[in-house]
Amino acid sequence: MSKQNIDWSNLGFGYIKTDYRYVCRYKDGQWDEGGLETDANITLNECACVFQYCQACFEGMKAYYTKDGHIVCFRPDMNAKRMADSAARLEMPPFPVDKFVDAVKQVVAANADFVPPYGTGASLYIRPFVFANDVGLGVHASKHYLFCIICAPSGAYYAEGLDPVRIYVEDEYIRAAPGLTGFTKCGGNYAASIKAGELAEEQGYAQVLWLDGVEKKYVEEVGSMNIMFKIDGKVYTAATVGTVLPGVTRRSCIELLKDWGYEVVEGKIAIADIMAAAREGKLEEVFGTGTAAVVSPVKELVWKGEHAYIGDGKIGPVTQKLYDTMTGMQWGKIPDTKGWIVPVEKKY
Ligand code: COI
Repeated sequence: MSKQNIDWSNLGFGYIKTDYRYVCRYKDGQWDEGGLETDANITLNECACVFQYCQACFEGMKAYYTKDGHIVCFRPDMNAKRMADSAARLEMPPFPVDKFVDAVKQVVAANADFVPPYGTGASLYIRPFVFANDVGLGVHASKHYLFCIICAPSGAYYAEGLDPVRIYVEDEYIRAAPGLTGFTKCGGNYAASIKAGELAEEQGYAQVLWLDGVEKKYVEEVGSMNIMFKIDGKVYTAATVGTVLPGVTRRSCIELLKDWGYEVVEGKIAIADIMAAAREGKLEEVFGTGTAAVVSPVKELVWKGEHAYIGDGKIGPVTQKLYDTMTGMQWGKIPDTKGWIVPVEKKY
């Protein structure tokens, strides 16, 4: 789609080809200089390792046009560090943090015309990814990798937008277990989640809420976001101890909540306690946090056939305040008091 034909205010979450992508290749034990390329296609050998054993991981970020006409992104160093952690777990070479941040700035600046205008509610989604491209059939770490960053103008992740969604608490399948890759952003985690997600969608739920993989007792995260529960004034969320993605939006919301005086408990939270809180009228708000999802209100949970209805089915005040503060900083509507906003120079 050419940028002239983009209906900025009605974008969903999907792929739209932009003019440039950043590509860097790893061989002989090092990353090459890397740079911008115009070809949107990657040619790979039919036996490239990534097709067989999934040695690959990715990140998700966004760039925004601010009120006063600057292009900015949000805490790119956090994504860079998380990608290095994912890579380490998958026995892949880390992509240097500074190089990552510079690459993000380069590719966003080069695609400046695709950053949705201020006021449309849309942003430029940035998808860094890295994968193994040795040719071989043995299960070993590859010696060659490709690191790419692609971009796509995008709107809300959920069709519901900021309207609260319904979530299915998954009681059969699991997403992660101690020692596995739950804390990484590897494609395999998402591949393993698709079946449960589709089954939930067929029943009218936006996504599934995963429980811990050992006892299926404690809440972990939702398909594409972390999740928080406001119960009797306190906010609870799963600790990121190996099975949960350490979300950048999650961490930022926790900081904001603490600044505002809320007690935030990061720990083991039993789904049974959440359902009991709902029965007692103490489950005040539930919301997801994520780059794509931003801050997404949840209006209903279903677990083993029991339904928990949250608040009056509308977005709650704390959820709204978090959404307004996060997007306010990102769109330059309110000052960035936290040092989270990183400008992108339009020089490339
Ligand atoms: C993001 O929030 O950026 C993600 O990567 C989640 C994705 C699975 C849509």
